[in-house]
This record gives sequence, C-alpha cells and structure tokens, in this order.
Amino acid sequence: MKTSVIAFWLPLLIDGSVIRLEPRQSVGILGQGGPMKKALKIEQLPSKLNVTDAKRVRITYGPYIIKGTKTAKGLGNARSMDSGGTSFANGVDTDFPRDITILKAYTDVQNKAGKRMELKDGIYNHHTVFFDLNNRHASPYTCAAGKVGSKMATVPVFAAGATETTVQVYMASSGDVKSGYYLNKTGSITNMIDLVNYNTEDQEVYTMTELEYVPGKPAGYHDAYMTLIDPGICGGPSGAAIHAPKGVNKFSINSSDILMNEPGHFVYTSGHMHDGGVNVILKVNDEIKCDSKALYGGEGHTTVVDGKTWQTIRETTSCNQAIKVKKGDRIYMQANYDVELHPSREMGGGHGGHGGMKWLSSAQAGSSMMDGGDAEQMALFAAYFSPDN
Ligand SMILES: *[C@@H]1O[C@H](CO)[C@@H](O)[C@H](O)[C@H]1NC(C)=O
Ligand SMILES: *[C@@H]1O[C@H](CO)[C@@H](O)[C@H](O)[C@H]1NC(C)=O
Ligand SMILES: *[C@@H]1O[C@H](CO)[C@@H](O)[C@H](O)[C@H]1NC(C)=O
Repeated sequence: MKTSVIAFWLPLLIDGSVIRLEPRQSVGILGQGGPMKKALKIEQLPSKLNVTDAKRVRITYGPYIIKGTKTAKGLGNARSMDSGGTSFANGVDTDFPRDITILKAYTDVQNKAGKRMELKDGIYNHHTVFFDLNNRHASPYTCAAGKVGSKMATVPVFAAGATETTVQVYMASSGDVKSGYYLNKTGSITNMIDLVNYNTEDQEVYTMTELEYVPGKPAGYHDAYMTLIDPGICGGPSGAAIHAPKGVNKFSINSSDILMNEPGHFVYTSGHMHDGGVNVILKVNDEIKCDSKALYGGEGHTTVVDGKTWQTIRETTSCNQAIKVKKGDRIYMQANYDVELHPSREMGGGHGGHGGMKWLSSAQAGSSMMDGGDAEQMALFAAYFSPDN
C-alpha cells in the first residue's frame, strides 16, 4: 500500500504556519485543555498479525458533517487547506487506547454503514491524522562534513489516512527486530481532519482507525517512528517540489551527503512519487536496500482524456525487511522519472479543464492541497526507523 502524501506535509504543517485554526477554536486543540473529543465506538478485535500478545482495536469518531458544494461556508473548526474543504482539529480524550506499542495503523473515512468513502463517492480525504506533538524524535540523519542539514526529518504522526490508501508500519515483517511506536499514558494526542465533499449535499462521515498493538512496552521492544528521507536534507533538491527540466522526459533526482547519526534498523520503507515517477531507490553504503516502484493503472486509476488512455499512480511498492544501519553509514536515495511514459496531470490534460476530471485531478495532485495546482514531481522516502537505544 501507498504511504500517503500527508505524511510528507505534516512536518511542514506543524513547523510552519499552515495549521490555521479559527480563533474561537484555538483552545482545546493540541492538548492545551478545553473539551476533548471522545470516540463514538471502540471495538476490540482479533489481531491479524502473527505476533505474541498482539491485539487489534478499531476506533471510530464522528459523525462529522462535511459541506457540499451548495453550502457556502465551511463547517468544522479549523481552516481547510482546500478552498472547498471542511477541517476539524480536536484534542483526543483519555478513551483512546494508551500505554500501547503500535505495530501497524490504518485510517479510513467511512459512511454511517462503515463503508470506505472514496473519490467515486465524491469524498476527497486530504488527510486524517493523529499526532503527538510532544513525542518528537531528533533526526536520525546528519550531513557529511561542511553540509548543513534540515531538522524536519521526523514526523510526530502515528496514525493517518488519506485518499491514497495508507498504512503506517512500525515493525519489520522479517521478525528479527521487535519494534513499535510507544504511546504512553499521558501523551497528548491531536486529531486533524481535512476533507473535501464534491457532492451538492452536505455529507455525514466518520473516521475509522485500526491499530495493531501490543499492550505496554514489552521487554525487547525498540521504539520506532516515521522519518522522511528527502534528497534535500543535506543540500540537494527539495523532494517535495521537483520539476521536470524543460524538454527532458527522463531524469533522476539524487540525494547527497546524508549520513546516519545513530545505529538501528529501518523496518519499513516506501517511496512517494507523483505521476511521472518510475521508482525510488534507497542505498546504504552504495548497496540497494529498497527499490520502491510506482505502479500505474487499474480500477479508479485509468481514464480516457481526449481519446487517450491516461493512467495514474495506483501504488508505490514498499520494503518491509529490517535494514540494519550503523552511525556514519551513507544513505542515498535516487528517484527516477519518465514523464513521457507517465504523463503528469497537466500533460495528461487533467488539470481543471476537463469537467468531470476536475475532482480526480485535484485528488491526484498532492500540490492541490496548497491551492497551487502545479504539476510537480515528488522524490521522497518514508522510512520507519527503530533506533537501537
Ligand atoms: C508465526 O510465528 C511463529 C514464530 O515466529 C512461526 O514459527 C510460525 O510459523 C508463524 N506462523 C505463521 C502462520 O506465519
Ligand atoms: C509521555 O510522552 C510524552 C510525549 O508524548 C512526554 O512528554 C511525557 O513526558 C511522557 N510521560 C512519561 C511519564 O513518560
Ligand atoms: C543521479 O545519479 C544517476 C546515477 O548515478 C546519474 O546518471 C544522474 O545523472 C544523476 N542525476 C543528477 C541530477 O545528478
């Protein structure tokens, strides 16, 4: 499954001024006191994992009313990043499971009957995220001598969903490393939702989060958290805004000068690209450890525009074997593109000007979230890191 774009925007959202709360609602958010939101339903289910003591819990919030196109003003209590969207930001109450080590997380937007709501239902899930701002990790990366690094390499989000199907994975499938995201008893959790409803009528929606976890922090478990490997960490091009050089169809974006600053394991790695991307590789000391490939087409990802078939990214493959790294190891990522083979939205004619394609192109465009609408490429690796200490 894909690692969602939201993961990549969140550090920016949090560090920057992009989280714009309505003044009347700024109390009670970010765990600063005030009303906390309780779940509608919390269900314990059998774990799907073959891990000792693993449990699964499904947590449902809602209903939330998302404004339709005939409703003039946004509902919700936070400013949406999309001009037509509805956004909520809430502190999460103590009913949310805590003192648990999360192994995997999955979040969806659903209707009342518990069915996933998608673009074909007119719902674009810009992001639905749970994060703990106090639980921020120092970057495990550093830069080669003489290079200045960015400090935005870690992401305090632990559970998230978006229109792209997403999953957060804190454990290696290989089973040789025990790791998970530990949520303690007192961590303050914030939930943010930003949805766009392309239907005329307002829609009632729910969010459903499933956590696979083990209770407490069992002996032998190491912490794990999401990091972003961006080619720009140590001075290369920024992976969130790559543009094809003029007149060139095939090109690569390479990182430079990234070093590990602490020993541990990558337990799950997955590239993130927009249409036009072919693959992203991750190397440790010149050895390829993950080749994350962009897969195109299939149901919901194939369209005919002006008589031409247009396929969009369906999935980016991931790697779930533990990758061991030592302090000082050289980390390298290379993203490869072919914008002739995989035209980006603008080249495919999907950018706004094709009526029915409008919402699809908006949803396909990570950039639309900033109301920019530029057909940029992405070159990022989500890397779930588990330090040895
Ligand atoms: C579950 O894990 C145990 C211990 O790691 C292993 O021996 C067993 O084959 C696994 N079972 C399945 C169904 O994968
Ligand atoms: C719990 O975690 C939060 C960060 O999420 C931290 O600020 C707090 O000190 C921790 N509390 C304990 C008792 O470990
Ligand atoms: C990136 O690396 C590849 C392989 O070494 C090379 O062919 C390409 O020219 C590099 N691209 C840039 C922009 O440096």
